[in-house]
Amino acid sequence: MIFSGTLNSEGHLEFGGADVTLLAESFGTPLYVLDEEAIRRNCRSYVQTFQKQYPNSETVYAGKAFLSKAICRILEQEGLGLDVVSGGELYTALQAGFPASRVVFHGNNKSADELSLALENRVGRIVVDNFYELSLLGSLASRKGVQPVIHLRLTPGVKPSTHTYVQTGQVDSKFGFGVADPHLIPSIRGILAEGRLNLVGVHCHIGSQIFQQESYNVTIRIMMEFLKKLHDQGIILAELNLGGGLGIAYTSDESPPAIAEHVSLLVQGVRREAERLRIPLPRLLDEPGRSIVGPSGIALYRVGGSKEISGKRKYIFVDGSMADNPRVALYGARYEAVLANRAQDPPEETVTVAGKCCESGDILIWDASLPVARPGDLLAVFCTGAYHYAMASNYNRLPRPAVVLVNKGQPELIIRRETYEDLVRNDLIPERLNHGSLPPEGAFPLFLPLDGGG
Ligand SMILES: Cc1ncc(COP(=O)(O)O)c(C=O)c1O
Repeated sequence: MIFSGTLNSEGHLEFGGADVTLLAESFGTPLYVLDEEAIRRNCRSYVQTFQKQYPNSETVYAGKAFLSKAICRILEQEGLGLDVVSGGELYTALQAGFPASRVVFHGNNKSADELSLALENRVGRIVVDNFYELSLLGSLASRKGVQPVIHLRLTPGVKPSTHTYVQTGQVDSKFGFGVADPHLIPSIRGILAEGRLNLVGVHCHIGSQIFQQESYNVTIRIMMEFLKKLHDQGIILAELNLGGGLGIAYTSDESPPAIAEHVSLLVQGVRREAERLRIPLPRLLDEPGRSIVGPSGIALYRVGGSKEISGKRKYIFVDGSMADNPRVALYGARYEAVLANRAQDPPEETVTVAGKCCESGDILIWDASLPVARPGDLLAVFCTGAYHYAMASNYNRLPRPAVVLVNKGQPELIIRRETYEDLVRNDLIPERLNHGSLPPEGAFPLFLPLDGGG
């Protein structure tokens, strides 16, 4: 059983040093809880291992996993960069005072407005995803009189073993320039000759929740061979960004490598290839998201009713849903959980934990081993720090949960729970709908008169 946290003398789950039953009472449920020490520990694991083994490197946190203004502060203090993929993520970073020079801006369809925001704020690197973006960014940069630092995102043609929705490095992907695209090198020559954009490196990202480290070795070989090809034509690109993707254990049968082990493998791979190909070592960037915040978070739900279908299945219902965690419906994600107010009670049955949305697929855990749950019990689901709150929606007009950051037992709210008022904040009623209740005669002949219209 994955068990993040400890058990206190009252038999309650403690997470980040806080009794989670008290967190639920103070902040309500559903609730996302993040352990600040765990986040910092994971950040340091990346930064320090790179510093020790490959000082010419940067760890860039992938904001898509979870982003808020408070997280930006932690990342800044820990010396990480920040990967953003939209104007909204960039705006969040800027609002938090995160140094724009440490921002890496991704996205396969950045708009002119988003690129302009990046240019005006002098973000550190823009990762250009396709030929259209190259020309759009070139003309925006000329108009603004700036020369942004860019990388090109390449798809190396590697297909790691993970869910197809989170594979991104294969040839048939919406992302990036194919590494074997015959137009790529001429285009690189064009960028360098034109001088509107300062091309310094290449980027790749093969996918997420990756356990097989061999996929990275193959990727590194392909990317370094591409740098060698350029090198032989007199083009030196000094930076290589290997993306993110290290997997985490959501259930006890999963055993990913530790962060330090993963970083060592990347570093050894790059050194080995540089030596084999006789090219200079590049500045190395890595973009972890899930492995930093994923295991550092739990989700708390209050149990309501239940339903038993004799000989088939028992459902227990909680006050969350696919609206705050769509990963089960999207990827068939699996989890483990405990009843946090009775965390010492042994499991007695296997149940399906269902949410409150109007979808049969609104399941949070298909097969949870739990003590017999009673209404009012508190369910804690482990490993929910990444791609949970970040993917939450207001489906069924459910307000998004609050997020609490716990530091050595002290909880602080970092994202407020949405209110019903928030849900209608952007709703508008056109003036004409305020007058009268009937459509003009004959406008909608949907209802026939009772006599049959004859
Ligand atoms: C370009 C890029 N970099 C980094 C990441 C982070 O991946 P992960 O959260 O699996 O580490 C992603 C996630 O999909 C990504 O698309």
